Amino acid sequence: MRRLTVPAIKGRKADGVTAEPLVMLTAYTARQAQLLDQHSDILLVGDSLGQVIYGLPSTLQVTLDMMIAHGAAVVRGSYHSLVIVDMPFGAYEASPQKAFESASRIMAETGCAAVKLEGGAAMAETIAFLSARGIPVMAHVGLTPQAVNALGGYGARGRSEEEHAKIMSDGKAVQDAGAFAVVAEGVVEPIAIELTKALDIPVIGIGASAECDGQVLVTEDMLGMFERVPRFVKRYEDMASVISKAAETYAAEVRARSFPTADQTYQPKT
Ligand code: KIV
Ligand code: NA
Repeated sequence: MRRLTVPAIKGRKADGVTAEPLVMLTAYTARQAQLLDQHSDILLVGDSLGQVIYGLPSTLQVTLDMMIAHGAAVVRGSYHSLVIVDMPFGAYEASPQKAFESASRIMAETGCAAVKLEGGAAMAETIAFLSARGIPVMAHVGLTPQAVNALGGYGARGRSEEEHAKIMSDGKAVQDAGAFAVVAEGVVEPIAIELTKALDIPVIGIGASAECDGQVLVTEDMLGMFERVPRFVKRYEDMASVISKAAETYAAEVRARSFPTADQTYQPKT
């Protein structure tokens, strides 16, 4: 199976309609990518790895080197899904040139096919600059976690008329600039639906609406690895309990000297 391409993903929304919604999940490691690859259309190496993998307080501390190391691992572990790597905070906002330097490093050093960056109209010039130079860009509007300090928190967006207008104009601006798709995060449902209908490019929802052109979740959230997750996360598994139970059993067997047994030990040849 050939790896999905940017035009194939974009082409899934034809005449304003996506018949089969796009499936996107985050992945940060090669093994995780291997397990998710056959079920997903897009694997996102999200800067959410700051909290999920590194225990950082927000995505603001994530570096380009972290994104590249994990991006390369995910490309190595997958062969079907389109791999997109998040541009971390500080790596692209200053200028289109700065963004190109960061994005070209990400693409050359990981082998991914596209980058994602946060922001709407303010990033339009940068999106156009990258798109014109062979770097496909997925945009991200609504709740943009790198702007948590400016937004004042991780609450849903689109509850005021001003926020509603901004989400719509940001979506149109990134589409006009050449973004091939856009993530809409934490957007009140009627506005997520309105945006999905208004744009010709796929709108991937997270905390948005089932009527979006696709969905994305942070895999560890969806697997139930954390106690606290946003309300838009559905837990499809309770991996925290699975892992903790396995560790508990292992610890008990080690302490009782009942592991390892003959099955797990080597004996000299007789
Ligand atoms: O970093 C991330 O995981 C993301 C998704 C939640 C869209 O940006
Ligand atoms: Na992100």
